[in-house]
This record gives sequence, C-alpha cells and structure tokens, in this order.
Amino acid sequence: MSAVASEVDRFNRLAAVWWDSRGPMRPLHVVNALRLAYLGELVDTHLAPLGRPLRGLRVLDIGGGAGLLAEPLARAGARVTGIDAAEKNIAAARAHAQSGGLSIDYRAGEPATALRAEERFDLVLLLEVVEHVDDVAGFVATAARHVGPGGMLVASTIDRTAKSFLFAIVGAEYVVRVLPRGTHQWRRFVRPAELAAAAARAGLTQIERRGMRYLPVLHRASWVRDTSVNYIAAFRRPSARAGASDFADTAP
Ligand SMILES: C[S@@+](CC[C@H](N)C(=O)[O-])C[C@H]1O[C@@H](n2cnc3c(N)ncnc32)[C@H](O)[C@@H]1O
Repeated sequence: MSAVASEVDRFNRLAAVWWDSRGPMRPLHVVNALRLAYLGELVDTHLAPLGRPLRGLRVLDIGGGAGLLAEPLARAGARVTGIDAAEKNIAAARAHAQSGGLSIDYRAGEPATALRAEERFDLVLLLEVVEHVDDVAGFVATAARHVGPGGMLVASTIDRTAKSFLFAIVGAEYVVRVLPRGTHQWRRFVRPAELAAAAARAGLTQIERRGMRYLPVLHRASWVRDTSVNYIAAFRRPSARAGASDFADTAP
C-alpha cells in the first residue's frame, strides 16, 4: 500500500474547496490549461497515429482529486476512470460531474485496491501525486501495469533539489503562501531519474520530459527547460507495431 494516512486526511479536508479556482487548489486550476494542452499534443503525436484520438480514449486519472482534469477529458470524449485515496474528493468529484451531466467512473482507493488486475488504459495519469505517496517505485509499477500496449503514462511532480526546497516549499508555503503550509515534504519529492527508473522497471520508456514554472503572484504557468522544480514526464509502453521511442528533453 502506498497511501500515507496524514496526506490522505489533508486532501480529504480540501475536498469542499477543490473546485474553488481562487481557493487553496488555485495552482492546480492555473496549470490545468497548460497540462490539458500538453496531453492533447501527446495524444495527437503518439496515440492518434495508431487510430486512437482523444474521443473514445481510455484514460485513468490516478490521484485525480475532485476531477479537475478528468472532467475536461471526459468532455472531449475520453472514457475516464478517476481514482483517489481521499474518499471525500471522490464524493466531491461525483457530485461535480453529475451537476455538469458528465459520466465519469470515479472510485475511492489507491491503484492497488480500486482497479481490477485486468483493466487496461490508453493513457494513465499520475499528476502531482507521486510526491504524496510511500514507495514511489511500487506505486508507479502498480500504475504502469494498467497501461495497455502502445499506451502512455504521464507523471508530473517536483524534483528533489536545493532549488525546489527554496521555491516549492519556502517560497510557495511560507513567503508567498500560495499553498497551505505542510502541502509538500521535500524528502518526498522525486528525482526525474528515479521516476524514469521506476517506469523502466515497469516496461515503460521515457519519451519526453519538460519543466513547468508557476509564478505565484501572477498565478501564471508556463513550460521551461529547467526541470529542477516542477516537471512532467511522458512514458510509453511499446506496442506490437511501434518500438520504444527515443528520449527527448523538450520545452518550447
Ligand atoms: C496534489 S493532489 C493532485 C490532484 C490531481 N492529480 C491534479 O493534479 O489536479 C494529490 C491527490 O492524490 C491523492 N492521493 C494521495 N495518495 C494517493 C494514493 N496512494 N492513491 C491514490 N490517490 C492518492 C490525494 O488524495 C490528492 O487528491
């Protein structure tokens, strides 16, 4: 099991304000447009040529909170399953989707308990979640099992560097206070090489990694080359037709 009780409690307490775009989850609301566009690009480049555009795509959003990403993906035609260890987040997600007339398969739990062993998806998301779990390698391995042939896993998190301590903890939680204190613990941050190694052990090849910068005062997000604070990485399970793609560090 990878869930950390204190983390899950903290996220349960945030469920009621999850959809408040000016509340404590504001940074996730701000980065959402950027990461949605990125997912669209990835799908167009790597999945659409295999005849699987976003419409009908099987998406698994692990640790998806109350559905910030699940909803626009479902609206774009993807078949979305969203799981989260915080039950109150799942209740908030269900209520929000229902009020918007969206059909999303939400389940409370972590990957090891909420998914059936045989379930496979085209796109598995681990966004801003691996820095909140125990046993990152085991968590990634469990998630990766659900990536079907030719499918992708996309993970975003924070690198464990001196710079991330300064910006993501001291700056974000104590100086600008864009995040509640205690949101992140530096020792749980994940080095890109650790993430890539965990994915590789699970049979996935890294195809891309890029940095993301969040400007707390302006509440703006953009892509950057520097991956030493926030970053997102995409991995692929080779299909029978396509071999492993080459690795690239990219930022526009
Ligand atoms: C920072 S939020 C990210 C939410 C969403 N992925 C996003 O980026 O908008 C982290 C989420 O991961 C969930 N979580 C933490 N540990 C988990 C685990 N072991 N399994 C599933 N979800 C977990 C938390 O409850 C929380 O909703």
